[in-house]
Amino acid sequence: MKPAFVFGTRPEIIKLAPVIRAFLERDVEPLLIHTGQHYDYEMSSVFLEELELPRIDYHLEVGSGTQAEQTGKAMIKIERVLMDERPDVTLVQGDTNTVLAGALASVKLKIPVAHVEAGLRSFDRTMPEEINRILADHASEVLFPPTEEAKKNLEREGITENVYVVGNTIVDAVLQNAEVAEKKSDVLERFNLKPKEYVLITAHRAENTDSRENLEKLVQILESLPMRAIYPMHPRTRKRLEEFGLLERVEAIENLTVTKPLGYLDFLGLEKNAFAIMTDSGGIQEEAIILGVPCLTLRYNTERPETVEAGGNILVGLEKDRALGYLRRLMEDEEFYEKMANAPNPFGDGRAGERIAKILLELHERGELRVRS
Ligand code: UD1
Ligand code: UDP
Repeated sequence: MKPAFVFGTRPEIIKLAPVIRAFLERDVEPLLIHTGQHYDYEMSSVFLEELELPRIDYHLEVGSGTQAEQTGKAMIKIERVLMDERPDVTLVQGDTNTVLAGALASVKLKIPVAHVEAGLRSFDRTMPEEINRILADHASEVLFPPTEEAKKNLEREGITENVYVVGNTIVDAVLQNAEVAEKKSDVLERFNLKPKEYVLITAHRAENTDSRENLEKLVQILESLPMRAIYPMHPRTRKRLEEFGLLERVEAIENLTVTKPLGYLDFLGLEKNAFAIMTDSGGIQEEAIILGVPCLTLRYNTERPETVEAGGNILVGLEKDRALGYLRRLMEDEEFYEKMANAPNPFGDGRAGERIAKILLELHERGELRVRS
């Protein structure tokens, strides 16, 4: 069995690492194809190193561009590799342009696609990720929704065959790395932070950063934070803040530390010890509830509604009064804080990677891993 993994961004590396590991443990050598959608050391290589992934077989160096440029370039380059290598299955994870490119290139070569983290829906078609998710799911032969709710989304769109609820591989990643992070990371000392006395902030979504109006709303929230905070900043956000002339305002905020993006071990350390997390990231909404840290999501919708239903996440959008109102309530109301912090993790037991490898190997053995005619 020859599985190919196509990935290109930070969260894909983190969430596919447990699946790659599960194949290696079964003595199956996967083919690793990195599109290069993310290319800075701290957005890509740091994770390959920390997660001890084997050598990358193909580095496609696609880089940045418009939606179509990036997706098209990735598709062309992925197709060439898949034509040469003819893997038995192509695995993609999540909802990035790399995922869409990998799924389309593969299925058209009649190489079946397995979609890890299938079935997520924000129901907001203005997000590039929503289009990528829908199209990737419909191009896939085997689907691995993390939750029953995600499976229902697939059912509503008529996708019912080869659908396996396995949990989210982010739980595997957190469990596999939290202890190592504890031992190896000195992130709190480095930034002079005390456990549970700071807020961790990240924001990079296109809808929050690409318009000056929305980015300024984010800056206004940052300027009024009632607690020490740290913001490892995604390069997209830094670029936009510079473009819109807002970076200096952010850098002038006294109780806010802005840093480069951090490696996974440092970032896990920051998440685990945070008083609360404010984010527009998908993966960080998941990690917050896994680690028992209250999450205020800087968005108006989420494709992770399970976190909200479980009580660990509140959608606050970019409304300063709402966002900071909830943060203050967390600071003042212990019962409210404990309720959010103790919300149950809806994403499974940390064995999603093993399940995915096992299911794909079984389908392959039975000759059922193929594009249906
Ligand atoms: C992409 C995904 C998003 C995901 C995020 C994870 C799509 C449509 N979006 O968004 O779903 O949440 O990755 O982090 O696929 N840049 C650098 N260095 C890098 C990478 C990017 O400077 O290593 C800058 C470039 O200016 C680039 C911008 O960030 O234009 C945006 O990068 P891109 O890959 O297009 O989208 P992300 O915002 O990273
Ligand atoms: N992350 C990291 N360092 C950072 C910021 C995030 O290691 O400075 C990790 C985080 O723990 C999570 C993943 O990156 O596992 C989330 O990626 P991102 O927010 O870029 O993308 P999304 O999940 O929104 O697609």
